[in-house]
Amino acid sequence: MQGPKLIIQGGNPLHGEIRISGAKNAALPVLCATLLTRDEVKIRNVPHLMDIVTMVSLLEQIGVNIQSEKSSAMVLSAANLSRLTAPYDMVKTMRAAILVLGPLLARAGEAYISLPGGCAIGLRPVDQHIKGLEAMGAKITIEHGYIHAVAKKLSGARIIMDIATVTGTENLMMAATLAQGTTVIENAAREPEVIDLADCLVAMGAKIHGAGSDVITIEGVSTLHGAEHCVMPDRIETGTFLAAACATTGQLSLIETDPGLLDAVLDKLTESGAKIETGERSIHLRMDRRPNPVTLRTAPYPAFPTDMQAQFMSLNCIADGTAVITETIFENRLMHVQELKRMNADIKVEGNTAIICGKQQLDGANVMATDLRASASLVIAGLVAQGETVIDRIYHLDRGYEAIELKLSSLGAQIKRATLS
Ligand code: EPU
Repeated sequence: MQGPKLIIQGGNPLHGEIRISGAKNAALPVLCATLLTRDEVKIRNVPHLMDIVTMVSLLEQIGVNIQSEKSSAMVLSAANLSRLTAPYDMVKTMRAAILVLGPLLARAGEAYISLPGGCAIGLRPVDQHIKGLEAMGAKITIEHGYIHAVAKKLSGARIIMDIATVTGTENLMMAATLAQGTTVIENAAREPEVIDLADCLVAMGAKIHGAGSDVITIEGVSTLHGAEHCVMPDRIETGTFLAAACATTGQLSLIETDPGLLDAVLDKLTESGAKIETGERSIHLRMDRRPNPVTLRTAPYPAFPTDMQAQFMSLNCIADGTAVITETIFENRLMHVQELKRMNADIKVEGNTAIICGKQQLDGANVMATDLRASASLVIAGLVAQGETVIDRIYHLDRGYEAIELKLSSLGAQIKRATLS
């Protein structure tokens, strides 16, 4: 099969220091928030990733003028919106494109957004986004696979979400900033990325209270203005590198990160036997033996994140004992298991639970990435395996990790990108 692949020679412990990039899942909604004002908004610490490239291209199609500056900053100006659409091609490559729905509707009174459809990790419906906007007075119809939303002016509403959804909360929070009156979102997602978006919106003049709790109150204002915002560090990139260092019995310092965002992950790494020290903006991890097995269950923040489940699966594959991992957020997020088994892992799956019997060693093999975090788990497995691992379909990895092979190489990993036929 054509296309770039990652080739990893396993067996080198990771050693050294790297800088953590801005968070993908915070930068994506923050970029969409710039649709809410005619003024310029400067966003700093935007990671260099394919999902950001896709979002920039979508916003440009909508009419946003975007200047990329040095050192990961972007200046966005949505003075004139020319096209209130997120087409199928964009939404199918990146579901986060749904995040333009709330801002476009609030600012321009109309939006025409492709329905995302299913995706590899699960069905992932957007009914809660729609239900919330309807509660705020939007008329929504589904036409030819598109959500067509219209509202002259949204009104504040009390919205009780049936399920705590991250992008759903973000979409409704953005829409509510320009609504007439007060909106209360109950059972809101508490993820740190929601707080980061709220911070950006508040800097733009929005009135928001309670972000980070499960009740968010937004008092609508008539306009928002320009602002500057620095995207929070990527807690999942942080956790991924820590899991990799732990698995390879390495020693790693991460800088420009925020240990306060990773309590559940740091607890599990400590349980696995890693020694962890944290500073205000740094984390140091040292691991000097085979990991203990760590049993875990994914759940909304502040519990263990679904976006770290696959990486901990790889760690457990070489642990000294048996662990159980239960995925509760997405119904089909254990696809990396089949690939890890090709590397000699001993994993049994029952429903959304995986039982992992740790082995002394994994074997390098040809494997295929199936989604973003599954790709990260294969990289970790490749770093510890004996011999060569070739990972195919790494476009999944490029969607969400900035320069992963460069960062890993700088830590002593033998990893390179190649186009093989
Ligand atoms: N859900 C519904 N209806 C909705 C919305 C969600 O039933 O209208 C369900 C989903 O199917 C899922 C659960 O609610 O079972 C939670 O999904 P959520 O909406 O919170 O996920 P998301 O907002 O689509 C974000 C991240 C994901 C991350 C999840 C969970 C972004 C852009 N994406 O997705 O990140 O896994 O929250 O924390 O913020 C990744 O980075 O690899 C990634 C998949």
